Formats: sequence, structure tokens, C-alpha cells
Amino acid sequence: MKTSIIQAGSHVGEEVTIGAWLANKRSSGKIAFLQLRDGTGFIQGVVVKSEVGEEIFQKAKSLTQESSIYVTGVIKEDTRSPFGYEMEVKDLTVIHESTDYPITPKEHGTEFLMDHRHLWLRSNRQHAVMKIRNEIIRATYEFFNKEGFVKVDPPILTGSAPEGTSELFHTKYFEEDAYLSQSGQLYMEAAAMALGKVFSFGPTFRAEKSKTRRHLIEFWMIEPEMAFYDFNDNLEVQEQYVSYVVQSVLENCQLELTRLGRDTSVLEKIKAPFPRITYDDALKFLHEKGFDDIQWGDDLGAPHETAIAESFDKPVFITHYPTSLKPFYMQPDADNEDVVLCADLIAPEGYGEIIGGSERINNLELLEQRIKEHNLEPEAYQWYSELRKYGSVPHSGFGLGLERTVAWISGVEHVRETIPFPRLLNRLYP
Ligand code: 4AD
Ligand code: MG
Repeated sequence: MKTSIIQAGSHVGEEVTIGAWLANKRSSGKIAFLQLRDGTGFIQGVVVKSEVGEEIFQKAKSLTQESSIYVTGVIKEDTRSPFGYEMEVKDLTVIHESTDYPITPKEHGTEFLMDHRHLWLRSNRQHAVMKIRNEIIRATYEFFNKEGFVKVDPPILTGSAPEGTSELFHTKYFEEDAYLSQSGQLYMEAAAMALGKVFSFGPTFRAEKSKTRRHLIEFWMIEPEMAFYDFNDNLEVQEQYVSYVVQSVLENCQLELTRLGRDTSVLEKIKAPFPRITYDDALKFLHEKGFDDIQWGDDLGAPHETAIAESFDKPVFITHYPTSLKPFYMQPDADNEDVVLCADLIAPEGYGEIIGGSERINNLELLEQRIKEHNLEPEAYQWYSELRKYGSVPHSGFGLGLERTVAWISGVEHVRETIPFPRLLNRLYP
């Protein structure tokens, strides 16, 4: 394979040729500093006129932002560079000259950057966020494979609405009606009955008219589902998984976290077990904090979640929500039928809910009753109900929203920067 910037460290003292783009540059009469990027990383190329001669020096000096080049030089250790290396340039060949690159080193507004997302992705900051996203995905596969889970891929085109019918993306499926998947959960429950412990990773869609820093129309979810796991077993998997992912990012993305200015001391504390409070206790806490108008049966909003999260330095589980607030499939608490065996995991620092999960109803009659109460079409859920007819077992699962998790771990304010091409209210391009 060709030499890349990320490999430069193993070529110290050697002459290498790297394909790169010019991210930025500074120059004087005698020396030019080229900020080079090749996708794998960033490195400074130093061009000294007295070493390379007039022709190459002029070529370097006149390079425009985002021009593509082949650059040849010797790799040197450099403690001032965050990357640790620089290149003493000997030669360069222009592949393509870029003209009037719109994203200049000056400040740009968010809408402008979002309109140029296809180019904005090249920036130092976006590069770092995408690398952290990739590490979270890598660590996810590693964790679940290590724990004996099987990866299962649920369909994207479906006839069911696990998370309520108000936010469905409708489409035609030849003569029938279909929806883009809101969650693969129902299929993952079937898969858990076949394979025991399973997880999925795929895109999910919510036609939510929400314009907040936490909402995307299309987002990616990791959905594990486990046969014979009850409510408490489920929370243990979640805290171990989230701790594993955070510690993996700390270990493998030091450069990226530094580039983003992330305070890593807060991430170092993210280790299982995580604190748990019930919905009832959350309400008491909120009333003490002066949130007077929230009553039993009301959903918790972003300000409530943030207030609760602020009193912990780890993610916190809020458990046992009122049955009326949650989807049809959740198992009621045997001690109090008004609440369900569910938990939302709220990230620290105001990043909000990153996981929703529960134990699932395993009794056929109760499930059929709930399907009716939620005005769902029993025929569409016939196959799902049938899982309770043939060796039904207690089982549980959860869904982790990837983009909110990337935002939290990276310390990025808005989820629009955590997915390569965000689908937002009013934004389908680029
Ligand atoms: O809480 P939710 O709706 O739960 C489910 O879909 C379950 N069926 C999952 C399961 O048990 N298998 O969504 C799960 C997570 C949320 O906690 C949040 O992190 C993320 O998905 N999420 C969103 N992320 C970005 N934009 C949106 N519009 C999101 N809606 C949910
Ligand atoms: Mg939820």
C-alpha cells in the first residue's frame, strides 16, 4: 500500500511520497509551511528555498487551498507538531489546481457550512469527529462480538411502527403502505429467540418536526436484544457497553479529542456502574429544584433531563416511567402496574437521552391488549405477537443513538456535526 501521513511515524529519516491536499499555508521569502492532509491525518510540510531551488519553491508558494499534489520529502520528528512529525519537502507535483475554495480559513456561519457539507467534511474539526464516530462503531462491534452477540440486520422497509405512529415516514410498497424503519427492535426480538444475544446497527427514521441540537430525521442506532435477560440484566449490559466505548475512544482517539479541545478528565470517570433513579424520584428531585409545573404522568423535557444529569458525573438511568408515556411493548412492573420496566440513559453535560430500553412483554394476552389500546393494527403485529406463542421467555433490549453519543463523547454541541450528511428538518442537501 501507499505511504500515508498516519504511517509517517514509521518512516522517520526516510524519503517518502504522499498524495495530499493543501489545507492551509504560510510563507516568507525563504521558507513555506504547507499544512497537508491526506485523509489519514495532517502534517506540516516545510519547503526551504535554498534547499529545493527557485522553481519548486515558487510552485509551493503559489499553491492554492485544496489543490491536490504529490509531495516527496524526508519525515522528521517534530515535538511542536501535535502529530509529532513534519516533512522536509524535496519535490512536489500538482495533480489538480483548486480555484476559489469556498471554505476559507476565516469564520463561516453554520448555514453556509451546512450548504457546503460535502467540503466542510475535509476540515480538521469534522475529520476529528468522523474519526471518533468510526472508533465508537469499531468498539461497538468489538464489545458485542467479545460478549457473544450475533450481528443481525433488520429490514429498513417495514409495515410496523414500534415507537408510535405519529413520526412515520410513509412510502408506497407497490400496492401496499410501508414505512421507513423507526427502530429494528421488533425484528431483533424475533432474532433473539433464534440466536440468543443479538445486536443491530443501522439507519432509522423519524419524521419528527423537532428542530433541536439532539434531533435528526435520519439517525443510526445500535440495538441489542437478549433472550432470558430481565430489566436489571439489561442495565448492566448498557453500562458496560457505554463504559467500553468511552474508554476505547480515550485510548485510540487522543489526537482527535485534543484537536476538539475535549476535556478528557470528565470522560475518564465514565466507568460502570452508573447511578439509577426512578421516575418518581426524578419528579421529587425536580420539584425540589423548583420545576413546579411538572406532574406525575408528564414526560421529562430536555431542561429536566439536564437538571438531573448535572447532579451526576456519569450517565444516569431514569427508570420506571409511567406506562402511558411509553410504547406498547414494555413489560409492566409486577409491584406497580402503572409503571413499566424501562430505563432511559441520560448523558452528562446536557447531551440528553442516549439510550432508551426496556424489558419486553412476554405474555401474549397482555401484548394483544396493549396493541388494541395503542390503536395499532393487530394484523401488522401478528408475527410479533406470535413470538409469545412458542416458548416465550423474559427478554430485554435497548437502542443507543449513535449521533447523540458521538456528540457527547466528542464534546460537540449539535448532532448535525456527528453524521457525514445530516438529514434535518428543511435539509435534504447535500
Ligand atoms: O428511545 P427510542 O425511541 O427507543 C427505541 O427506538 C427503542 N425501540 C430502542 C430499543 O429498545 N431497541 O430511541 C433510542 C435512542 C434514543 O435514546 C436516542 O439516543 C436516539 O435513539 N434517538 C435519536 N437520535 C437522533 N435524532 C432523533 N430524532 C432520535 N430519536 C431517538
Ligand atoms: Mg426514548
